[in-house]
Amino acid sequence: METKRWNIQRETEINKQFISEAAALLRAGETVAFPTETVYGLGADATNQSAVAKIFAAKGRPQDNPLIAHVANVEQFQQLVDNLPDYVDDLIAAFSPGPLTYVVESNGVCAENVTAGLSTIAVRIPDHPVALELLRACNFPVAGPSANISGKPSPTTADHVYEDLTGRIAGIVDGGPTGVGVESTVISCRENDVVILRPGGITKEQIEKIVPVTELRNEIVDKPASPGMKYKHYSPDVPLWLVDGDTEKIQKVIAEEREKGKKVALLARDAILELVEADVSLSLGSSLEDVANKLYDNLRKIKKSDADLMVSEVFPESGIGQAIMNRLKKAMTAYIS
Ligand code: TXA
Ligand code: MG
Repeated sequence: METKRWNIQRETEINKQFISEAAALLRAGETVAFPTETVYGLGADATNQSAVAKIFAAKGRPQDNPLIAHVANVEQFQQLVDNLPDYVDDLIAAFSPGPLTYVVESNGVCAENVTAGLSTIAVRIPDHPVALELLRACNFPVAGPSANISGKPSPTTADHVYEDLTGRIAGIVDGGPTGVGVESTVISCRENDVVILRPGGITKEQIEKIVPVTELRNEIVDKPASPGMKYKHYSPDVPLWLVDGDTEKIQKVIAEEREKGKKVALLARDAILELVEADVSLSLGSSLEDVANKLYDNLRKIKKSDADLMVSEVFPESGIGQAIMNRLKKAMTAYIS
């Protein structure tokens, strides 16, 4: 299949012609990748079972892992549910559009394979001008997992999508690099509290100001609350070690491996890169927001270097640090403390 690519610069006015071409392909039951504020999504008409099946096929995604339905506004959200706990209105007012995904009781408007047969559906209003313009043009919910081959790091640029999915999908809307860089926070909306199924762009501290939050432990369980939890994620092409300690400790681990003849890459913030010697430096900037924004690009970049091993610092689990560490722990092959 030929993959069409539209270049939409975020700085200039959004090209309406490109948006309507992309929307027409989605309406015709094809798959189109689009930018959101977190990562690129791979879209298909969420009400069309055979269109949604193409997402699973293109990504190699396990059939039992449900998808997020993306909508442009609250009115479209309400079309997918019959009733919502009262506090959800307050969450929507505070965080939507934004990197928060609500798992709520579905009314069955979306195709069965969107929810992988569950009674609940995940819904999100993304905060990205191109995504919102596309969703408004579609006027149907758009199912959209991250637009990567299953198991690989999520795409934060159109080039990442191209790398993984060209020839397998009908189009890519290129809206430039995404902002947040890690995926949305997924919450299960229970009667009087929410459970964080996946930490992400909206932090626990932010949500707690509105509704009590019950935390789920980050582990792979037999019967996961969110099907996505049991699968391998974000795997880079070389082993990734997390080293929990100061710069001396990180340097020691790297030096030992280099002595064995390995080429070692260091994935860290600039302040650490300046102090530690490695064969390849992968810069994550300085703030935790920078780290989130640059993480997946660096996990992908490693395959273009000749490194045999990637060593990462361990990040503080405050704010967006919770999402960063959640992803790194899934991506790692060893934790050294
Ligand atoms: O930021 C994001 O959330 C991006 C952009 C494209 O919106 N999307 C994304 O989708 O990360 P995906 O499919 O890679 O991750 C969605 C997660 C999966 O772990 C899935 O298992 C979970 O949400 N999920 C979806 N529907 C669910 C449901 N009904 N109950 C529990 N978990 C659900
Ligand atoms: Mg994903």
